[in-house]
Amino acid sequence: MKTVTCTAPVNIAVIKYWGKRDTELILPTNSSLSVTLSQDILHSKTTISAAKEYDHDRLWLNGIEEDITKNKRMHNCFRETRAIRQAMEAKAEAEGKPIEPLSTYPVHVCSENNFPTAAGLASSASGLAALVYTLSQLFELTISTSEVSRIARQGSGSACRSLFGGFVAWEMGEKEDGSDSYAVQIAPETHWPDLQALICVVSDAKKGTSSTAGMQSTIKTSLLMNERINNIVPARMEGMKKAVLDKDFQSFAELTMRDSNQFHAVCLDTYPPIFYLNDTSRAIIQLIHEYNATSPDGKLKAAYTYDAGPNAVIYAPKENMAEIIQLIGHYFPSNKEPAEFFANPYNAISGKL
Ligand code: PMV
Repeated sequence: MKTVTCTAPVNIAVIKYWGKRDTELILPTNSSLSVTLSQDILHSKTTISAAKEYDHDRLWLNGIEEDITKNKRMHNCFRETRAIRQAMEAKAEAEGKPIEPLSTYPVHVCSENNFPTAAGLASSASGLAALVYTLSQLFELTISTSEVSRIARQGSGSACRSLFGGFVAWEMGEKEDGSDSYAVQIAPETHWPDLQALICVVSDAKKGTSSTAGMQSTIKTSLLMNERINNIVPARMEGMKKAVLDKDFQSFAELTMRDSNQFHAVCLDTYPPIFYLNDTSRAIIQLIHEYNATSPDGKLKAAYTYDAGPNAVIYAPKENMAEIIQLIGHYFPSNKEPAEFFANPYNAISGKL
């Protein structure tokens, strides 16, 4: 028997992935860019053991057993990693130095998140990244991190970005087989230590529309979507890469807020519309704009972004964070709204609102 445990962090996109051009291979309709948060507060932890004595593959998510055969995407990740291991075993055998036939052993997978699952906090990203990374370690695969991310992409699109720390782009690629659709690191986690993220958990209820169903519906029905993927995101990707490399918070903040707003606009333009934000989310948006308007030199002091859920992630330079936490705490006292505050990230911070 062989057992390996790994953790993977959450990433929060600042240029959003929304829409698949191939639903089987999970190939996106646009490239995206994210910030990987530190693992201290939010992470998925996965333990996988492989043993020839096991009967079949089994999976426990947050302590509850799930039927692994029903999870096609996870199955694809097993298939791909086992195939690479199998080729290594065949090569080793041919060279007269056989290695353990781990690719033929059933596996037991235990995965847990230390934060609410499926509440718009990117749990699928860290969960699938942890799964595929642990498999790659278990099978001792000698492949690059981008190659591991290409496999994780097939578990959950955004998962491919959680394989790297720091600032990460998922390049959409052009090929039909998805071989050029993977994540690359734009800058490491040490690049911009002054940038912090504050996660405000507005609600930890499971989201109403899954990202898979939502994306397909947007692709089919939104008229704004074409404009977004063809004419807007390509230039934003370039602008965001430059903002990150230059540590230019002004461009980073404006692009982040505009892209979050446009993602939620295409959700609203989907027919029937998809609502991920609630009144508290919208009030936080307004508060951040009002806070930015108080800046004496007109410079942005904070930026918000929202994934497929109502929880806010606020990016800001370290020097503004204490003020922002105080502001949010003042306008959203914890006894009024079931919202939670996390601060730490990249250097994230957290807590209940
Ligand atoms: O990877 P998925 O299917 O959970 O999609 C997530 C999409 C967003 O979180 C809304 C945006 C993103 O780029 O992470």
